[in-house]
Amino acid sequence: MINIKEEIAKAIAMSVNLDEKELVNYIEIPPNSELGDFAFPCFKLAKELKKAPPMIATEIKEKIAIDESIIEKIEIQGGYLNFYINKQTLAKEVLTEVDNKKEKFGSVDIGKGSNVVIDYSSPNIAKPFHIGHLRSTVIGGALYKIYKFLGYNSVGINYLGDWGIQFGKVMTGLELWKDEYDLTTNTIDAILKIYVRFSKEEKEKPEMTDLARQAFKKLEDGDAEALKTWKWLRELSLANYEKTYKLLNAKFDSYNGEAYYNDKMDKVVEELKEKGLLKDSQGAKIVDLEEFGMPPCIIITSAGTTIYATRDLTSLEDRINKYDFAKALYVVGNEQQLHFKQVFKVLELMGYGEYAKKCEHIPFGLVVDKDGEKIGSRKGNSVLLEEILNEAIEKVKNIINEKNPELEDKDEIARKVGVGAIIFNDLSNSRIKDEIFDWDMLLNFQGETGPYIQYIYVRTKSVLGKAGYIPNINDVDFSKITEKEAFSIIKLLYSFSDVAIQAAEKNEPSIISRYLIDLAQSFSNYYNGYHILTEDKQVQDARLYLTYAVGTVLKTGAELLGMEMPERM
Ligand code: ARG
Repeated sequence: MINIKEEIAKAIAMSVNLDEKELVNYIEIPPNSELGDFAFPCFKLAKELKKAPPMIATEIKEKIAIDESIIEKIEIQGGYLNFYINKQTLAKEVLTEVDNKKEKFGSVDIGKGSNVVIDYSSPNIAKPFHIGHLRSTVIGGALYKIYKFLGYNSVGINYLGDWGIQFGKVMTGLELWKDEYDLTTNTIDAILKIYVRFSKEEKEKPEMTDLARQAFKKLEDGDAEALKTWKWLRELSLANYEKTYKLLNAKFDSYNGEAYYNDKMDKVVEELKEKGLLKDSQGAKIVDLEEFGMPPCIIITSAGTTIYATRDLTSLEDRINKYDFAKALYVVGNEQQLHFKQVFKVLELMGYGEYAKKCEHIPFGLVVDKDGEKIGSRKGNSVLLEEILNEAIEKVKNIINEKNPELEDKDEIARKVGVGAIIFNDLSNSRIKDEIFDWDMLLNFQGETGPYIQYIYVRTKSVLGKAGYIPNINDVDFSKITEKEAFSIIKLLYSFSDVAIQAAEKNEPSIISRYLIDLAQSFSNYYNGYHILTEDKQVQDARLYLTYAVGTVLKTGAELLGMEMPERM
């Protein structure tokens, strides 16, 4: 496809004798299309050219040589030059590209040969899969797919919290209460109950914490019995997570978690020592970060044990060696901000500054109900992710039974719509904001929701189904795409690639969600204003092809977020 921004920048560059690369970044998209499809703010050049903006605008307009089949009109408005795209050319460019690339429309290969390591989900085994891990799984999963779409090699790492005192708690709890729980049928449920009960009781009886510590110490010392239980708990939990990951379309290339690095930390500790970074402080070993305005990064605690940061440094070095990454992203809640700042700083101090620059913490907000209260906090324990997903599916099934009981494949469709609603809700606002979790809102088929996107997609399918064909691109007369509403759609389709690139640059999947809402709404306007199926075959073919293109991009975009599209609903 032609890059119109670049064409404009090239033409301006020639007329004022400046570098095209500098100019291309100045080009804006006007807030309202009456002011053109692209605008160039001439005041950006006032200093360099030593002229008033309106004068620059006039001069450029007089001198500019730009293909009329691309830009059909240029107007001056204040200090701006407004460019109007030739609609027919753009329609042809966009729709021909859709025909060429089909569901790959919008994909590029700017990331070719680069690895992007994405640390996401990373739950703590033997503890409940908290709703915060849902956010990490969904946001990280979307980033994984977005980077792939841009040609990067995405590496998904589920850095399991599979080592730590929580195992001591569960093991002690098992010893104390195993007869009170049914460990044969719903084992994982019993384990979680034991963990929650233990955490509650130890608040009153601190001696229980000591027991848990001793149990964990046994595990650390390699006690065979303890290791066996640990392995059993890990496998049990993983099998349980797998169900959720499958529903969410989350993919991991590695499950190397904290336990994996447990026996690999000596090297890093040694390295820190050699580089003169380790300091003794109150019995602990730390890296002093005072001059960077941060509390010290503890490497060895006063009890002589390693800690979360020690393991993260070790795993980071491993990721450098294994993947030589272009980016390393950590999709983890906002409350770990300081931890990552410290770890990246220590990495830099160790002499890996080049890599430290490529590390980024991708934080996100809490999940709250519509009154702003943190989900689960009232009950004092966590909401189980799997239960939420199943509840969503159940609710959609009820809606289907009420509105369209004859629908085929009800279960399959309810799964796609229910899970899609949860995923979209998580990604619909910028990630740092708290996510509002409200069933009525997220399942509203008319709102800015996943089900709405799916509904519009299904609409495109049913129009094509009614027509009985997808026109051949060679039969499409692009001059028949004349309506303002149709041209808004063409422009949105044209920008899809840029939208995906921006989403990756900001690590912000919501840029794609917002785009999908815009596209779906634009199609809805068009569909409500004009008959796609009409007597004039040429008009019909053009409109049908546009319909097909919208459906294709809605599906590709939704899949980038991790959703699946139903073909009917
Ligand atoms: N297991 C941690 C938690 O649930 C998140 C781990 C994030 N990844 C990392 N490399 N530290 O809080």
